[in-house]
Parts: sequence; structure tokens; C-alpha cells
Amino acid sequence: MYKLLSGKELSTVLKEEMKQEVAALVANGARPPHLAAILVGSDGASETYVGHKVKMCDQLGFASTLVRLEADTSEEVLLKKIEELNQQEDLDGFIVQLPLPKHINANKVVMAIDPKKDVDGFHPVNVGRMAQNLPSYLPATPYGIVQLLERNGIETSGKECVVVGRSNIVGSPMSILLAQNAAVGNCTVTLCHSRTKDLAFHTKRADILVVALGKAEFITGDMVKEGVVVIDVGITRVKDETRKSGYRLKGDVKFDEVAAKSSFITPVPGGVGPMTVVSLLKNTLKARKGEIEWV
Ligand code: GUN
Repeated sequence: MYKLLSGKELSTVLKEEMKQEVAALVANGARPPHLAAILVGSDGASETYVGHKVKMCDQLGFASTLVRLEADTSEEVLLKKIEELNQQEDLDGFIVQLPLPKHINANKVVMAIDPKKDVDGFHPVNVGRMAQNLPSYLPATPYGIVQLLERNGIETSGKECVVVGRSNIVGSPMSILLAQNAAVGNCTVTLCHSRTKDLAFHTKRADILVVALGKAEFITGDMVKEGVVVIDVGITRVKDETRKSGYRLKGDVKFDEVAAKSSFITPVPGGVGPMTVVSLLKNTLKARKGEIEWV
């Protein structure tokens, strides 16, 4: 019988921990952590994600600022806004919600963020520091997954870990973190992607399988071995007229089939998703406390 790796449950615990920490800061006369988000345009999913971030700030006693810019905002204006936030002293961290409109160079935008305020952990300075196991802001999704493994007592040392998907946001950093000589780490990592020849050959060898492909129910029961730990990062919206929203969320893993062979598995929704916003706020709290040694 499998055990659910519930991000919903763990995120509640972590939120409570942070809430108390912020209350203690404020009781001592300090200002609360302050997170800002820049949203360019009004993409539906991005609106939802940014909304979650602002709402969680409110719940935990963080200050938050939402900077809304029109979809046709020029790159120059966006870069100016970023510079302004870089300089703003009462702001601990900020993010620019991705994806950006096509006329804006996202790499240039990420590069413009002061790494010390880059609580998304997307700036090459943070990515490089992470790769060298130096203190850094970890990107929210991988950070959330690390905490799910850690707080559920899942041993990673010496395990065969297969990561499917090589995005800058999830697959690539996940592969680095799991291979690192760290408490959650010390895996033998295989990183699979769209050019991998025989995906099932690799996934069947996995003790720990992290799937971040964005293809609903792609991983089937015959592709995993008995006892596997499965982390499903997929959140594809599939039409469902019976729902008020008109859609429901599906993971990258065919849940019933794969769960039947798993020791641990994340559900979708309620698995990795709730951990990501919590992780962003953990980074912001770290920024507020000056916890990262930038040497
Ligand atoms: N779009 C999807 N995920 C993310 C994220 O973690 N951060 C930002 N800034 N944009 C995103």
C-alpha cells in the first residue's frame, strides 16, 4: 500500500511555522518580510499563481506588493521597474512572473534582478551557487520537493533517481540537488528529456522518480518498478464540464496505475503544488533574516 506525500498537509505545517516566526519578528519591533511580484499582462494561470502568492503573504503576516504592468509594456520600462525594486530598502525579495510576453527577453529580465533579492532563485548567480552547494535561494518547486522528501523521512543517499524533464525551473535544478553531497541528495541521478531514446528503460530503474514534463498521465504503471517513490510535478488543465472552473488538474503520472506500485507518491492536486508558494515565502523570510551568507 502506498503512502501519499501530501504537500497540502506539509505546507500547512510549514505555514504555521513561518507565521509564528514572523509574529515573533514583529513582536520584537522588526518589520515583517516583504515580497513583491511583477505581473506583465493578464495570463489566466499567471493571475492565479500570483494571486496565491499574495494571499499566502496575507495569511502569514508578510507584506506584499503586486506590480501590474500592461501586456504591451516595453522591456525598457520593465527593466526600470526591476531596478527600482532592486534599490527599494524595505523590500526583501521579488519575482517577475513567467512567462513574459514575446516581445520581452526573459533572460535579460532575470539577469536584471539583484541576486540577493531573487527569491525565485532563477538568476545565474543563484543557479551557480546552488550548483556549487553554496548558500543560495533554491527555486521554489525543487525546494518544495526537497522538503517533501526530508520531512517524510525518505532516504535518498545511494538511491537511483530518475528526473524526467530538463527545464531550468524544475528538472535541471532537481537533478543537481539530488546528486549533491547533502542531507537530501547523494543519489545517482539520470536526467531524461525529449531526446532520451528509451524512457521506460530508465524510469523502470528508478528508486525515486521525479516527473516534470507537462504531459498529462504520460507515465504509466508499466514504466515503474515496485516500491518506487514518485514525485509528480505535472499540473495540466484538462477540460471537465462537470467542474465549476471548467477544468481539472492532471499530473504527468497515471495515478491509479503508478500508485499501485509505489511506496510513496504525490497526488495532483495537493502534492508538489502547495509546496511551491510556501517555498517562495521561505526564501523571502530567509532574505528578511539575512540568512544567506553571500561570500
Ligand atoms: N511561472 C511558473 N512558475 C514560476 C515560478 O516559480 N516563478 C515565476 N516567477 N514564474 C513562474
